[in-house]
Amino acid sequence: MSTTLVTTTGGSSLVPSAGMWQGLSNVIEVIGLDRFMTTFAPNKFLATLDGAAQSVPPIWLMRQAGRYLPEYRKIRAEAESFLHFCYTPKLAVEATLQPIRRFGFDAAILFSDILVIPDALGQKVGFETGEGPRLTPIATQADFDALRLDLDMERIGAVLETVGQVRAALPSETALIGFCGAPWTVATYMIAGRGTPDQAPTRRFAYEQPELFQAIINRLVDVSSDYLVRQLRAGAQAVQIFDSWSGVLPVAEFERWCLAPVRAIIEKVRAQEPHARIIAFPRGGTSHLHQFAAIPGLRGLGLDTAVDPDWATANLPASVTLQGNLDPIAILTGGRGLDEAADRILEAFAGRPHIFNLGHGILPETPIAHVEQLLRRVRGA
Ligand code: CP3
Repeated sequence: MSTTLVTTTGGSSLVPSAGMWQGLSNVIEVIGLDRFMTTFAPNKFLATLDGAAQSVPPIWLMRQAGRYLPEYRKIRAEAESFLHFCYTPKLAVEATLQPIRRFGFDAAILFSDILVIPDALGQKVGFETGEGPRLTPIATQADFDALRLDLDMERIGAVLETVGQVRAALPSETALIGFCGAPWTVATYMIAGRGTPDQAPTRRFAYEQPELFQAIINRLVDVSSDYLVRQLRAGAQAVQIFDSWSGVLPVAEFERWCLAPVRAIIEKVRAQEPHARIIAFPRGGTSHLHQFAAIPGLRGLGLDTAVDPDWATANLPASVTLQGNLDPIAILTGGRGLDEAADRILEAFAGRPHIFNLGHGILPETPIAHVEQLLRRVRGA
């Protein structure tokens, strides 16, 4: 870093003085070393998350590592199970890097899953090919009492090792995003034992046993904050909290089970890592976006497909970077429809800090050529 400083300040007579060093270290203390470093090695994703609008926005895609890539399907076929894949750094590092190599996205997202958290709490978690997750449901106080108080580091340690190895392998212009599921979304799988279209089993559980449900949510708040802090310390430069099922709740339940726990996680993470960059993605929480945007310490807000980008630009505070929100069906389809849908988003967010992304995860059937088409459109190449 000192070399950069000497050359940018223009010659040997301007070697930084003791006072200048003091000034710099004050700046680092205020803005954080990571943000300071990005000033010297520009990283478009991080700069945008820190509030700088770009003429060409950074781009990454939710679920960019995964089944639509032939190279992923190849290494996945060799692993004994999906969770084993997630806990094997060699495979998880490779899966994280595959979309970066192929497409040069501005950010990589750790290859893992939100359901490693119940697994690391001791709940039985498995993934059936073609059917999705299967967990032994938490139904009673005794089921809850059987869970661990903290994360099993034999499992989580492997994820953190992946984070460190990925960060070391990525060029400085590519950011690394860590993540966890929001407590409500993770709890829906813990209680129903599988994905459901409307989360009716968990909504019912929360009405019937609110104290027990609160205890589950509290446990998830604690371990998820710890998990995010560990990811940040291992090399993640931003973290995203996926609340994929926040859209099914009435307002009072939304505030209690989605908003309050996410706010608590952000507070806990920033108490330990004051400069942590955190993105929340409350899918389906359209009428609550204002409340999310107002969470102290939130840097980015993911918008789902249904949010009107013009409305978001006009109504959400400029202090929060918006991320999204192309329809995954538009990229699945490709052609003129994809170009037009991408253009509408680019135009609506022009001039404000915006990270181009989908409004939900990329679908496994999406052709590679359509991802390339989108990148050309967004980057104007
Ligand atoms: O590329 C990335 O985004 C990183 C990896 C990642 C995965 N899952 C890999 C995965 C991330 C960030 C997730 C998040 C996740 N997992 C969410 C939140 C985002 C969303 O899509 O709503 C949720 C709800 C889950 C839970 C989950 N994991 C389900 C419901 C399923 C089965 C259905 C499906 O979408 O595949 C998974 C399995 C899963 N997670 C796969 C991958 C690549 C497929 C499993 C396989 O390859 O065998």
